Amino acid sequence: MSNESLANLLKEERRFEPPTELAAAANVTADAYERARADRLGFWAEQARRLDWATEPTETLDWSNPPFAKWFQDGELNVAHNCVDRHVQAGHGDRVAIHFEGEPGDSRTITYADLQREVSRAANALTELGVRAGDRVAIYLPMIPEAVFAMLACARLGAPHSVVFGGFSADALATRIQDAQARVVITSDGGYRKGGASPLKPAVDEALTRPGTEDVRSVVVVRRTGQDVDWTEGRDVWWHELVDRQSEEHTPQAFGAEQPLFILYTSGTTGKPKGILHTSGGYLTQAAYTHHAVFDLKPESDVFWCTADIGWVTGHSYIVYGPLANGATQVMYEGTPDSPHKGRWWEIAEKYGVTIFYTAPTAIRACMKWGDDIPAKYDLSALRILGSVGEPINPEAWVWYREHIGGGRTPVVDTWWQTETGSIMISPLPGVTATKPGSAQVPLPGIAATVVDDEAREVPDGSGGYLVLTEPWPSMLRTIWGDDQRYLDTYWARFENRYFAGDGAKKDDDGDIWLLGRVDDVMLVSGHNISTTEVESALVSHPSVAEAAVVGAADPQTTQSICAFVILRGTAAESEGLVDELRAHVAQQLGPIAKPKRVLAVAELPKTRSGKIMRRLLRDIAEDRQLGDVTTLTDPSVMGLIQEKLPSAP
Ligand code: WT7
Repeated sequence: MSNESLANLLKEERRFEPPTELAAAANVTADAYERARADRLGFWAEQARRLDWATEPTETLDWSNPPFAKWFQDGELNVAHNCVDRHVQAGHGDRVAIHFEGEPGDSRTITYADLQREVSRAANALTELGVRAGDRVAIYLPMIPEAVFAMLACARLGAPHSVVFGGFSADALATRIQDAQARVVITSDGGYRKGGASPLKPAVDEALTRPGTEDVRSVVVVRRTGQDVDWTEGRDVWWHELVDRQSEEHTPQAFGAEQPLFILYTSGTTGKPKGILHTSGGYLTQAAYTHHAVFDLKPESDVFWCTADIGWVTGHSYIVYGPLANGATQVMYEGTPDSPHKGRWWEIAEKYGVTIFYTAPTAIRACMKWGDDIPAKYDLSALRILGSVGEPINPEAWVWYREHIGGGRTPVVDTWWQTETGSIMISPLPGVTATKPGSAQVPLPGIAATVVDDEAREVPDGSGGYLVLTEPWPSMLRTIWGDDQRYLDTYWARFENRYFAGDGAKKDDDGDIWLLGRVDDVMLVSGHNISTTEVESALVSHPSVAEAAVVGAADPQTTQSICAFVILRGTAAESEGLVDELRAHVAQQLGPIAKPKRVLAVAELPKTRSGKIMRRLLRDIAEDRQLGDVTTLTDPSVMGLIQEKLPSAP
């Protein structure tokens, strides 16, 4: 990004110091940065000691064949033992591991002792089905406790799981089963979503008719909704019939630290999904450390709630592996935030006294749109830390989150990471960092990240470029499943010896990092690079705008011109006057070069199921093209709604 345009970029002057009490008792203090800088590998070796190893590792990192890392490779451990059994052995069997809340209002309390029994039974069941260490198991479940039991049962057996998000189609499921050559699929009849029972089993039946899925010999079906299911004798088996009759005892075997733990597919924008491979010792070390550090978790008193689905990496690292390795008590919720009413999340937070809450900007903006009065009806005074993940959070949404959910008291930690990084990489520390709305700020202790220009030169403070990671980290992906070459090409070819994250970023005058969105989302207007994120944040800072998505549309005069799609707040109505006002507002915030050429008010924005705006489709609209593939949208009909708006465009 050129420096002249940067000089105009959004200035964020607000700072929030850590609350004194929190800082005084924080798990991690400022000296951690210094210690980690002085001896990075020593720092990670120290963090690995949070885990219970059957054989202590003597070697921290083997980087003799970069970028193929081996962490703690001569150590041996069992991941499920670390997440379950050791807490029971330490006398915490009665501690609640999971407060489960179903969408219809049913609930279940699962202690660590319960979890040990459930996971052991499930591990015995998988063993009976012939699952052995190294075999892949596909998990296609709603957000119910069996999803956690199934993942940990696989971990216990050293059988890598591949969790496929329950909202994905039979096609997506089939591709993932084929690529991982799964032997078993664990699913359910269905799950509750938006007030109704939605089926899952039919998608499995359909996926298994596709060529390349023949390795699947068993389908284990959890009964959740009671809806009718088709049955294939000899292949299908009910979870309750198989698992409930198993022994509650299972002795976990220790595996090498580099034993594959899971494969998780990321769709990316092009090509077939990438099977991101994570292994055991390094992954668990960093998942546990970051959960301890970023959320300041106190296992005896905190109630943690991460709203992600288990089908995303956030659910893997901050529902299953990080919190359970740390012996946390957490909430797990099956449904959507607005079912049966828009205060559902806050009702649950009040019910369980949630102290730490972790969600995505898209959800925060939806809550903003629904109105301040909704969270105001609930007692959220137990909350002490709020987290954000998944995309850049607009400063206005950040401030709203802190004010209306955090009661103006709680630090907000904006955590940057990826499926590939396995755990959080860049984030404030709640007891240390004076936070800045909209910035993920600083790499965590032990993490090395910076911003470089096209020639791989580190940019000075106050400049922008590409985010890179300059040293290996314990929970890094080890490769793309079955495709080492693609691993090299995607992440390690752009800059020598540096991991290319694919995100644009800038360093502000204090050296803090701001994420600017995927590099494919940066616009080029009259020779200036302008980030979609910053124009969107400028729009959202106007009182009439709840949400905004910005794209660059081909333009004969200026290469690209800025086209903005906005969702208006509450009572604001679209008018020519408002459109002019919004354009002027952006010009005033960011400079005239960033002024959108067009502003269209729409009712919805096209989002992927993980809540990311599909700018590619908006670009199709802005450039008046036939729409590309819409199959990964949460709701493909929103594109029709948006297209109807077009005649009113200037
Ligand atoms: C991409 C990774 C990490 C779990 C959820 C997403 C974007 C993620 C932030 C943040 C700005 C962010 C990046 C990243 N992203 N967190 N705090 N600020 N951008 O995992 O699906 O692998 O997506 O999400 O663009 O590269 P993912």
